[in-house]
Amino acid sequence: MVTFLENPLRVGLQQQRMPEPQIIVIYGASGDLTQRKLVPALYKLRKERRIPPETTIVGVARRDWTHDYFREQMRQGIEEFSDGLGPEGLWQDFSQCLYYCSGDMDNPESYQKLNNLLTELDEKRGTRGNRIFYLSVAPKFFAEGIKQLGNAGMLEDQYKHRLVIEKPFGRDLASAQSLNRVVQKYCHESQVYRIDHYLGKETVQNLLVFRFANAIFEPLWNRRFVDHVQITVAETVGVEDRAGYYESSGALRDMLQNHLMQLFCLTAIEPPNALDADSLRTEKVKVLQATRLADVQNLHRSAVRGQYSAGWMKGKPVSGYHEEPGVNPESTTPTYVAVKFMVDNWRWQGVPFYLRTGKRMPKKVSEISIHFREVPSRMFPSASQQMGSNILAMRIQPNEGISLRFEVKMPGAEFRTRSVDMDFTYGSFGIAATSDAYDRLLLDCMMGDQSLFTRADEVEAAWQVVTPVLSVWDAPADPATVPKYEAGTWEPAEAELLINQDARRWRRL
Ligand code: BG6
Repeated sequence: MVTFLENPLRVGLQQQRMPEPQIIVIYGASGDLTQRKLVPALYKLRKERRIPPETTIVGVARRDWTHDYFREQMRQGIEEFSDGLGPEGLWQDFSQCLYYCSGDMDNPESYQKLNNLLTELDEKRGTRGNRIFYLSVAPKFFAEGIKQLGNAGMLEDQYKHRLVIEKPFGRDLASAQSLNRVVQKYCHESQVYRIDHYLGKETVQNLLVFRFANAIFEPLWNRRFVDHVQITVAETVGVEDRAGYYESSGALRDMLQNHLMQLFCLTAIEPPNALDADSLRTEKVKVLQATRLADVQNLHRSAVRGQYSAGWMKGKPVSGYHEEPGVNPESTTPTYVAVKFMVDNWRWQGVPFYLRTGKRMPKKVSEISIHFREVPSRMFPSASQQMGSNILAMRIQPNEGISLRFEVKMPGAEFRTRSVDMDFTYGSFGIAATSDAYDRLLLDCMMGDQSLFTRADEVEAAWQVVTPVLSVWDAPADPATVPKYEAGTWEPAEAELLINQDARRWRRL
């Protein structure tokens, strides 16, 4: 049971200010993300009166849609993917801030047409030249879009023009560096918002509060007390209809290099001097620069990939990865990846960090667990064969919360012990911890707060860490050499070995 005391903590990241009126231009407006996430998130912000009524959204895509058709698509998205249209009149009002402009990413005339519309809208809606360009398009169009916006002078104003880039940012170190060069040619870094939606999750931000607003954990958060750390992001979904993207991406690029490495960074960083964007991101870069795969010479001892084969999910048969629509039956793209990282710094020297993520796992669950060292001498017999070590688990989703496992005495005449969990769940706030993130990230971007976005050197440092794996896994291989796991089960046996070789085991979630 947790009692809430008035918390004097003020975290700079969450400020209840109102952003200036601005136009948000969404490239890729006919895509899924716009309809499912971006526009519903903006609608929610409007409903909660957190953005001014002048806020204007312009969708851009190749299709020849009218403003009204775009509005109708967005209305359906809000109804289907959020908690509905809400108070009467709100949709009516909001729909009038939605505009559509068809255009090609590589045609300079389209940018001129868009620019004219934006100038007109500035007048009509009072948006004062403030613009966010959100690239929610296939990654191969990022560089072209930025060049064209830049050449059309639409990114010129360092204070009024912002650029949001969806993930994945590059597909390896070289391509991320080259994309950064394009970005830096046309923008100042303070204009750039590289999105990783995991940073928008409430429970991910809570990692910072948990670590740096509580004096009792920080003294234990190091090699003296921590035996190892596990980070798991398991999904039940398969590749769905995304084979076109996923085949060239896979679990390492799609999840590990970004989402899991963000969780890893926030777990491992030193306390930043302040919670402003640069202090926080500088600490993340420092920890990434100290991070390496445990054993690059024997790659199988620090990285394992896997692919799901046919199996059962919730009592229904499901296909294996090779049978999914659009997937090459000879594909070696991993749908599962586990790695072992070491961090060569004073805090973490010798403490392994095991990270794993996969699709078609038995459960959707994301968790970070800190496994503390065992007591130096065992005085008491345990109720189970083994006396457990203390584990601090931070559940990112679902059942968001934190639990601490420790040993207690079993009732009775003997000194027998057993492990129990002390739990805090976000549910006890009576308000759900949002894991949907886009409203938070869009608002931060409108406010000009880059804390929850990735900086150029950070994204490159993250690619650097996984480069040795990519250089081996990207080489053509016999698909039979990629370990398999049945859909609906946990990792392949090879990934068990990755951790068992150190006399440890994956936490069962
Ligand atoms: C996306 C990946 O970035 O994150 C998807 O491209 C994945 O493959 C998704 O399913 C997971 O996000 P969440 O918020 O559902 O954990």
